[in-house]
Amino acid sequence: MVMPKKVPKYTHFFLILLLIAVSNESFSSSFIPIDNYLVACGSSHDINFQGRTFIPEFKFKHSNLQIIANKKIEVTSKFNSTLSPLYNSAQLFLEKASFKFKIQQYGRHWIRLYFHPFPDYNPIMTLASITVTTDSFVLLDNFTFANYTRSHLMKEYLISVTSYELFITFIPRHNSLVFVNAIEVVSMPDVLFPNSLNPSTPFTEFTLETMYRLNVGGADISAQNDTLSRNWESDETYFQSTTTGMNISTNISAIKHPDFIEFTAPPMVYITAKSLGSLSGGYNLSWEFRVSPNFLYFVRVHFCDMISSSTNSMVLDLFMNGYIAFQSLDLLRVSGDLAEPYYKDFVLKNTEETLTVSVGPATMSSIRNATMNGIEIMKFINKVDASKKENRVNNVLTKTSELSKTSKLVIIIGCGVFVVIFLAFLGLSFCYLKSCRLKKNSVNACEFLRHFTLHEIQHATDGFDAELLIGVGGFGKVYKGTLDNGKIVAIKVAIPESRQGLDEFYNEIELLYGLRHQNLVSLVGCCNEDSELILVYNYMANGSLSSHLYGRDFVPLSWKQRLVICLGATKGLLYLHTGAKQSIIHRDVKTTNFLLDEKFVPKVADFGISKRGPLLDKSHVTTNVKGSFGYVDPEYFWTKYLTKKSDVYSFGVVLIEVICGKPALDDTRTTQEMNLALWALSCHKKGTFNEMVDPYLIGKVNMDSLNKVLELAWKCLEERRVNRPSMGYVLCQLEEALHLELASHVLNDNDIEFSDDIEAVV
Ligand SMILES: *[C@@H]1O[C@H](CO)[C@@H](O)[C@H](O)[C@H]1NC(C)=O
Ligand SMILES: *[C@@H]1O[C@H](CO)[C@@H](O)[C@H](O)[C@H]1NC(C)=O
Ligand SMILES: *[C@@H]1O[C@H](CO)[C@@H](O)[C@H](O)[C@H]1NC(C)=O
Ligand SMILES: *[C@@H]1O[C@H](CO)[C@@H](O)[C@H](O)[C@H]1NC(C)=O
Ligand SMILES: *[C@@H]1O[C@H](CO)[C@@H](O)[C@H](O)[C@H]1NC(C)=O
Ligand SMILES: *[C@@H]1O[C@H](CO)[C@@H](O)[C@H](O)[C@H]1NC(C)=O
Ligand SMILES: *[C@@H]1O[C@H](CO)[C@@H](O)[C@H](O)[C@H]1NC(C)=O
Ligand SMILES: *[C@@H]1O[C@H](CO)[C@@H](O)[C@H](O)[C@H]1NC(C)=O
Repeated sequence: MVMPKKVPKYTHFFLILLLIAVSNESFSSSFIPIDNYLVACGSSHDINFQGRTFIPEFKFKHSNLQIIANKKIEVTSKFNSTLSPLYNSAQLFLEKASFKFKIQQYGRHWIRLYFHPFPDYNPIMTLASITVTTDSFVLLDNFTFANYTRSHLMKEYLISVTSYELFITFIPRHNSLVFVNAIEVVSMPDVLFPNSLNPSTPFTEFTLETMYRLNVGGADISAQNDTLSRNWESDETYFQSTTTGMNISTNISAIKHPDFIEFTAPPMVYITAKSLGSLSGGYNLSWEFRVSPNFLYFVRVHFCDMISSSTNSMVLDLFMNGYIAFQSLDLLRVSGDLAEPYYKDFVLKNTEETLTVSVGPATMSSIRNATMNGIEIMKFINKVDASKKENRVNNVLTKTSELSKTSKLVIIIGCGVFVVIFLAFLGLSFCYLKSCRLKKNSVNACEFLRHFTLHEIQHATDGFDAELLIGVGGFGKVYKGTLDNGKIVAIKVAIPESRQGLDEFYNEIELLYGLRHQNLVSLVGCCNEDSELILVYNYMANGSLSSHLYGRDFVPLSWKQRLVICLGATKGLLYLHTGAKQSIIHRDVKTTNFLLDEKFVPKVADFGISKRGPLLDKSHVTTNVKGSFGYVDPEYFWTKYLTKKSDVYSFGVVLIEVICGKPALDDTRTTQEMNLALWALSCHKKGTFNEMVDPYLIGKVNMDSLNKVLELAWKCLEERRVNRPSMGYVLCQLEEALHLELASHVLNDNDIEFSDDIEAVV
């Protein structure tokens, strides 16, 4: 019997809650979507719909929502539809048109599209043929209302957004038109769905279309009664009358921990169910759904056992399309308690036009009864086929066919034990809570990364061979590793006991996963298995900048090389400060954190203590002083106000190191000289700084170029941050310095060949 692994899921479940609680440290139970676009298309006024307010396009900031179209026509219905006013206006296009949404938060989002052709509108909207795509997925493929039996259509999709712009494109068929009444783009908790179909197929690569979402044994539940604004439909239409079933229900106070199920399903789903009515109609409860054949489907079934007693428990067999999907599901055992909500996920390839879900008592069940509370069916939808023009699509199965060779029922993914024993929860110490809370980041962020199994990591590092150890720190150890495809990587392994280490790890993943820049280190993937937390990075063959200035295997860098490296690092920092959606203050700018790849391209590393910067209306964040001695901004040190200028100060120290070829802090030097920046400043005042310049550079460098960088360094090291320049200014000055140097370059450039010495990626 396959038993879901309880313990890991248990923590996983926590994350559902803790994800939400992260910012204010309290267990607030509601989910507040970061991206929350509710667009009443073509409307002139706000419209309240199912408890939320949809607003017209023109009320959005242009930078947030833009319509890209040659021509758009706002239309309103003359009839007062009995449907919501939301369906009384629309945006109509005669040519391909796009809505561009600015995305604040990467991750899973709902897209909901609302359509209602006005019976009175000419050209006739009912004849529209509607194709809707995102950049990579086809949401609607040539939909028409011609043979559609209802007056309006609402489609819901679950997508993973991994860029700051989301385009939703509407494509009319030749000589036709396309329209939309309302659009939603709303963030959702990432943890609601599993991370991967199997280790090699991240779930996030797919887009799902909601086909059916049933509240079994109960009434419809509209968006306003669902924490994530989902609609749940009564199961009556799909229930197979060949099986006899009866509605059963309990009251909300009988459900264990209803607040824990906040996102999975509203409590109303768990308080109503169907059970076997009498045995004469057979032993199964069965539902049948019409679906398109040859797609993959994601099926989630919800249970809450109201039938078992402490002495007699019900064990279920679950069938899909007549095949056994899960045998002997002992609800009491997997959920831990009576009336404890529980769900289970399946993925199957469906070759028929119908999909059936059945549940019946297993042979070993001591109670000859069955139950079901909710069923969700989502379709894995097709990718846009870029090779063909317009809207032809690729069947998702071509990509995932290996999943489904053996049988129609493919695989059972994440056994969703999300239900926990409440007492255990209460018994947990605050410390544990805190670490769980932090863990949400890794779950959240790891989704966008490749997942490595512990086995793969062990294989890559020859079982964490000490010979491959390239660095050790408070956070853990760094190994050089080789992946199966031959790629060389740096593997950072957290010490689980080190609280600081773990915090920094999660911080690093959280900050890094949304960032892509050629001058930032990039995460290749992560491994979060058996309570190990491991990050995998591209391997930086040339170690850190510091090792080339004064390190063990030090071969002096030319001035040009130093400038090029500083320029690259500046670009990375500038991107952090201004390029990302919310500015990021690195907080630990230093020469050991500028890593060099095989071509000496610098990459800013170590985001362990980085901080998201202030929002626009604030200029600083207040935080305890962290950073490395020798580099910390004095004003930050005294005021605890962290600003981007703190990074600029530290970068000034880097420039002095680069000019002097000496470490920022050296306790073998005298007290006055221990801190390089302070020593340099005092020499500067005395006019003796020239004596500090790296002897290697003397005579080999254009002095205008060097002086330019020195001037810049003094500006960066200004005690008052208002007097320090921005990273953008730093970039311009370094570029000028490089030009000056190149212009004066002697013909035989004596750039040096480097040995492949190796340094920790720390
Ligand atoms: C439609 O309903 C609104 C408000 O209920 C009303 O103000 C308007 O006059 C109605 N229009 C028509 C054409 O009946
Ligand atoms: C869309 O549907 C119409 C009518 O059903 C059909 O004529 C047309 O070929 C379809 N277009 C595509 C691209 O499938
Ligand atoms: C609608 O149904 C009719 C009759 O069943 C059929 O002839 C026609 O092709 C259908 N139209 C579309 C667009 O599917
Ligand atoms: C079960 O409940 C639904 C929704 O309330 C109702 O429509 C249906 O008739 C009920 N079925 C039975 C067999 O009582
Ligand atoms: C659904 O929400 C509405 C509005 O918030 C509320 O009046 C109603 O009682 C809710 N229904 C249920 C079944 O909780
Ligand atoms: C709700 O269920 C609980 C536990 O089964 C029971 O004690 C309570 O009386 C019920 N309340 C109502 C209003 O039915
Ligand atoms: C199944 O359980 C329900 C609720 O306890 C009960 O009403 C029904 O009679 C049971 N059915 C059978 C076949 O035992
Ligand atoms: C329940 O349904 C499954 C799948 O259709 C079938 O194989 C099984 O025999 C049924 N069980 C009973 C007792 O009818």
